[in-house]
Amino acid sequence: MARKMMIAGNWKMNGLLADGVALAQEIKVDVKAKKRNCEFVVCPPFTLLGAVKKALKGCRVALGAQDCHFEEKGAHTGDISPEMLLDCGCTYVILGHSERRADHGETSELVCKKAKAAYKAGLKTIICIGETLAQREKGETIDICSKQILESVPNDATAADTVIAYEPVWAIGTGKTPTAQDVEDVHAAVRKVLAKKLGRAQANKMRILYGGSVKPSNAKELLSLPDVDGGLIGGASLKAADFMAIADNAGC
Ligand code: PGA
Repeated sequence: MARKMMIAGNWKMNGLLADGVALAQEIKVDVKAKKRNCEFVVCPPFTLLGAVKKALKGCRVALGAQDCHFEEKGAHTGDISPEMLLDCGCTYVILGHSERRADHGETSELVCKKAKAAYKAGLKTIICIGETLAQREKGETIDICSKQILESVPNDATAADTVIAYEPVWAIGTGKTPTAQDVEDVHAAVRKVLAKKLGRAQANKMRILYGGSVKPSNAKELLSLPDVDGGLIGGASLKAADFMAIADNAGC
């Protein structure tokens, strides 16, 4: 089953206007020059979405946001709706990132509600799952990831509107990564759970990204595994040279 590789950059809470525009322009120059055949997505903070959209004009790099509310509009101070994201040019929204689960107490049920709202608005989702170090040490990795998939992914999700990102919490921003075998085992298990939930056809087509300390030097090993369909890149997505070197090494 051929799945188009995806290289997605999660900029998190980084970048002022000039930095974000410069980074987007460098990515655009590279993607246009190399005629790459992966799907690229960049997910800047809300404040940069409009400017980055403008900077990316004319190239096939998609724009994503890092979260959304589940309501269309209303009295939710500080929140952003899926419709607003679509309006400023987003195609994707990351949901359920472990930093939101930890910092804002987001549950899988809430992630599922947000995903349904995103589909309704016409956005695609990148739904994140992953175990903590304590859970891994207790041997609960597959159980935790399976539960998160079952509860976070809506029953009508399809490979056309949903991408999964497996990001072990202990690997995010730490420089530590699971072994290639561990990553492949989790991705294969996640695909099995997706097959149970959504049917085999959708599960075989749905992309499952790996995220957590991906860098140019480990991209080849981690992103070319059979059930790994690309990467969600944090720290290394803030430098165009690193982000594009990851794409190179992943065969994109
Ligand atoms: P990292 O973050 O690449 O900096 O580890 C990945 C993520 O949190 O999406």
